[in-house]
Amino acid sequence: MADEVRLGWAAVHVLVIGSGAREHALLLALRRDPQVDGLSVAPGNAGTAAVADQYDVDVTSGEAVTALARRIGADLVVIGPEVPLVLGVADAVRAAGIACFGPTKDAARIEGSKSFAKDVMTAAGVRTAASEIVDNPAHLDAALDRFGPASGDSAWVVKDDGLAAGKGVVVTADRDTARAHAAGLLEAGHPVLLESFLDGPEVSLFCVVDGETVVPLLPAQDFKRVGDGDTGPNTGGMGAYTPLSWLPDEVTRRIVDEIVKPVAAELVKRGSAFSGLLYAGLAITSRGPAVIEFNCRFGDPETQAVLALLESPLGQLLRAAATGELAGHPPLRWRDGSAVTVVVAAENYPGRPRVGDVIHGADRDGVLHAGTARRDDGALVSSGGRVLSVVGTGADLAAARAAAYATLESIRLPGSHFRTDIGQAAAEGKISL
Ligand code: AMP
Ligand code: GLY
Repeated sequence: MADEVRLGWAAVHVLVIGSGAREHALLLALRRDPQVDGLSVAPGNAGTAAVADQYDVDVTSGEAVTALARRIGADLVVIGPEVPLVLGVADAVRAAGIACFGPTKDAARIEGSKSFAKDVMTAAGVRTAASEIVDNPAHLDAALDRFGPASGDSAWVVKDDGLAAGKGVVVTADRDTARAHAAGLLEAGHPVLLESFLDGPEVSLFCVVDGETVVPLLPAQDFKRVGDGDTGPNTGGMGAYTPLSWLPDEVTRRIVDEIVKPVAAELVKRGSAFSGLLYAGLAITSRGPAVIEFNCRFGDPETQAVLALLESPLGQLLRAAATGELAGHPPLRWRDGSAVTVVVAAENYPGRPRVGDVIHGADRDGVLHAGTARRDDGALVSSGGRVLSVVGTGADLAAARAAAYATLESIRLPGSHFRTDIGQAAAEGKISL
């Protein structure tokens, strides 16, 4: 209760924008906050409908989101996905005088434009992969020769220079595969970003940011590849765990002080101050942490694990950032132990997923919904690629894994798949720096 006394008490109605398991996790954490007395979500999914009042809205329209927030009397709008942020929905909500958790269109370029992000990082003196943009197919082969094994790296990293839901990246030691991906992007009119390969375990560090004030959450690790043992294509994320026993606190402090704070300060200096969740995706290389990417929002599926351990009231934290009071917010409190998220994906994901299958066993604690819908007859059916996020917590990572995988055994979705090794290497002490 100490937090509430220090901030003063005020009931808040929160509107969450989005429809994934990340938003389901945000809603559940917001519901635990005694100051949150109203919860709404748009557009939501079959699982969030049980937690919040649900509205259908075009989340890419600032006008529509603002009109909904006004109509339902929301005091705080929390925007989950990157697309509305990159399109300026937070600007529209703020312009209507409603507090909003999420950066302006200008600041969201840190995720929306990889070249903007590179520019900011260079100016801030932050370590990231060397990169080059190719927009002319005639220059592709020469550029490929400056990266990948040809340059001493173990792989080529070929990216779409825009938003691609985590699926626009190919990391490969095979030149033909790298070339084919780049050529495909160029043919579709998308500039290609070639990067040097950053070697080392990956870390997702979420920071609540308001201007130059930076409050880190627990570091997490995401599993991007679709298959066990990090095989197969990249996805939006197949699982995550937190905290990272193998990452010394000192390294987390360095990430905050030497990477996130300088980037936040650089954005302020450019007149694009960031307010919301700044997500640093890093590789811990032999030369220290280096940035793979910044995102302008909570990550999915890491959020489902991180928020499972948050004890501080989430609504008050997000509102403090949205109203410029983050610097006065009390230190965050966390539950001891670990949390693990395992994503249940539909058949064929990350390709075009099979949808419309009936799901059994998903309406229970620890199961967060993403691509789910309610059929007219009341049956729960799949409606997207990542269908569910199963969250387990426990005294340590092994216990949290056991809890998540035990819950998974009771879920039935024809054709679905999940990774069986989320957090396994860390639980077995096999990750070292
Ligand atoms: P991104 O969409 O930029 O997050 O990339 C998706 C995934 O590709 C990352 O989480 C990494 O696993 C991998 N990746 C991207 N860029 C690099 C890089 N420069 N070096 C090594 N791996 C990378
Ligand atoms: N976990 C990866 C992402 O949210 O982009």
